[in-house]
Amino acid sequence: MIRKLSFLILLSLILTEGRFEFTNVKCNMLDKEFATFEFCFLKSVNRTYKYMSLKVNLLKSPVTKVKVNIALMQKLSGYKPFLYNITVDGCKLMANYKAANPVTKFLFGLFLPFSNINHSCPFSDSIIVEKLPIDYLNTQFNFVLPFPKGDYAFYSNWIISDINRADVRVFFTVS
Ligand SMILES: *[C@@H]1O[C@H](CO)[C@@H](O)[C@H](O)[C@H]1NC(C)=O
Ligand SMILES: *[C@@H]1O[C@H](CO)[C@@H](O)[C@H](O)[C@H]1NC(C)=O
Ligand SMILES: *[C@@H]1O[C@H](CO)[C@@H](O)[C@H](O)[C@H]1NC(C)=O
Repeated sequence: MIRKLSFLILLSLILTEGRFEFTNVKCNMLDKEFATFEFCFLKSVNRTYKYMSLKVNLLKSPVTKVKVNIALMQKLSGYKPFLYNITVDGCKLMANYKAANPVTKFLFGLFLPFSNINHSCPFSDSIIVEKLPIDYLNTQFNFVLPFPKGDYAFYSNWIISDINRADVRVFFTVS
């Protein structure tokens, strides 16, 4: 396992020179009585500093039952699933983050440090991802997997009390 991982890391060091760039973010509240997006945007401060922010106001707090589905999509003819498609119990994950599998930790690690959801359930009031810089994603990805150039997206579904309430899609390119 360790040997396989270090081989992958080595391979990614050799193969990955790609740079990630955000291209779009779309936040879609499917249940507007449950929550609203206060904001959801990308901002380019300058050539090197580009970030994403979003804020969800929960109208029916507290939230105690959360499932999150995250799928990485690659654009071919349309966006097709690529490498990851995971669904996790958000409360269990936050209660014992260390025990989660590496893929889950990797995917959540992409935004957790910039969010207010790195704590155990329940979640109340609002969920914020604040100024997640694209440079951070670059550092996270470069050491993990070789990534062909192209257009990608993360599709995420936020399933609260067994109902899909919102989807958030983050689009990016690797060049
Ligand atoms: C871009 O903006 C950030 C934040 O304001 C600043 O720290 C950085 O030096 C700027 N970079 C360039 C190349 O201007
Ligand atoms: C991810 O997997 C789930 C469960 O198998 C499926 O319902 C969903 O459509 C998949 N997502 C994508 C984007 O293909
Ligand atoms: C979550 O918070 C804990 C404790 O504050 C910290 O040790 C951990 O690194 C954080 N995890 C992430 C992914 O931000």
